[in-house]
Amino acid sequence: MFTLTLALLGLSLGLVANAFPTQRPENGKNWVVIVAGSNGWHNYRHQADACHAYQIVHRNGIPDEQIVVMMYDDLAANEKQPGPRDVTPDNFLAVLKGDSASTKWGTGKVLKSGPNDHVFVYITAHGAPGLLAFPEDELYAADLMAAINYMHDKKKYKKSVFYIDASGSGSMMTKLSDDIGVYATTATNSTELSNACYYDEKRNTFLGDWYSVNWMENSDVEDISMETLMTQFKIVQSNTSHVMKFGNETLANMKVMAFQGNANARPNLPMTLKPVADPGLTISTDVPLEILKRNSSNTDNSLLRSHVNVRDHLKQKMLKVVTLVTGFESEYQKVLSEKMDLTQHQCYKTAVTSYKKHCSIWHTTVYENYLLDLYLLFNLCGKIYRPECIWATIEKVCTEIDETPL
Ligand SMILES: *[C@@H]1O[C@H](CO)[C@@H](O)[C@H](O)[C@H]1NC(C)=O
Ligand SMILES: *[C@@H]1O[C@H](CO)[C@@H](O)[C@H](O)[C@H]1NC(C)=O
Ligand SMILES: *[C@@H]1O[C@H](CO)[C@@H](O)[C@H](O)[C@H]1NC(C)=O
Ligand SMILES: *[C@@H]1O[C@H](CO)[C@@H](O)[C@H](O)[C@H]1NC(C)=O
Repeated sequence: MFTLTLALLGLSLGLVANAFPTQRPENGKNWVVIVAGSNGWHNYRHQADACHAYQIVHRNGIPDEQIVVMMYDDLAANEKQPGPRDVTPDNFLAVLKGDSASTKWGTGKVLKSGPNDHVFVYITAHGAPGLLAFPEDELYAADLMAAINYMHDKKKYKKSVFYIDASGSGSMMTKLSDDIGVYATTATNSTELSNACYYDEKRNTFLGDWYSVNWMENSDVEDISMETLMTQFKIVQSNTSHVMKFGNETLANMKVMAFQGNANARPNLPMTLKPVADPGLTISTDVPLEILKRNSSNTDNSLLRSHVNVRDHLKQKMLKVVTLVTGFESEYQKVLSEKMDLTQHQCYKTAVTSYKKHCSIWHTTVYENYLLDLYLLFNLCGKIYRPECIWATIEKVCTEIDETPL
């Protein structure tokens, strides 16, 4: 009887272990990469999110040498951060790959993770279908996926979790396979716009992004050594409704602490947060407009008007590109409404680069307006049109003199 009980106990322990993968990296470490992919005052919230995320993993016992924070750092002097202006897609991918020779930034800090380690990656940025927008350049889904597969091939983690907050962030993970030990959640699907929140009257800017604030406030108030990633996902989903998950979902049975803390340390005591009556959700691409509108010292409406004009102007340009490339009304309508699955990566990259170059004024406060229409290039490249024709049409349409200048 005694042996039978022991055998049953052993069996059930075995089953539990299978159903819920180990919480701690066995003989391994926890590593974290945090990226705020923007700059400028109106994007204050991305860097605020990144600082908040750093506080969470720091408080939960991950040593600084295992945390890489990438932020532009143009908002406040903070000696913790690496040199400013180094938040580029290339540097980020080099950080993931552990390639210190290729990083061109102050500290040259990269992941030095190994086969037993857990890696948690959190990105908050602007995005559009198939890309995340960094201050100077774009990170494309195919390149992120190649870096993740490289990390897997080179045994740079045992398990890894990605959280991405950006418009269209779901598009970054659609090709994530479920057999490489990675679980990911994103703020939106491939085409939706993300939300900013917590407008601050004093600073005249937004202090958070809604998906980010939700997972982070949840990590703040829960005992994350008890809560699972799946529970965190469901709580975020219940408040934001648009969050998505990808990869190996069995990993979501693991505790949040297994990625957001040092699993060998004691979790930080949960905090109590003051409830916020109205988070003031604002579609991320409307943030520059909203900031102009809410600025009481700004009595001149011309900035607001010119912002709206730029948006209309770009939309018209983009629709003209689609008209010229498709040639037929029925095809035109399809490009406007279809949900494509991108395979023509080079077509899209070159199209975006051409749009940036020839429609100019990229990376200013009206930059959000460019992102709004990129799905049209994404859809064009997903169809049978010749890439050269798409690229040439963008150049032609963007450089021609307008009949109705701004
Ligand atoms: C997903 O992860 C679990 C736990 O690590 C593992 O047992 C399972 O084989 C993985 N699934 C795939 C398809 O690799
Ligand atoms: C994304 O979500 C929106 C609604 O929020 C929906 O209309 C659209 O079809 C979804 N797109 C995809 C690719 O699932
Ligand atoms: C999300 O919802 C939970 C209740 O399900 C609530 O306690 C929490 O405050 C919400 N988070 C935010 C950021 O509003
Ligand atoms: C608010 O408007 C004033 C006057 O135009 C301007 O100087 C200031 O920079 C604006 N504040 C922000 C945060 O944009």
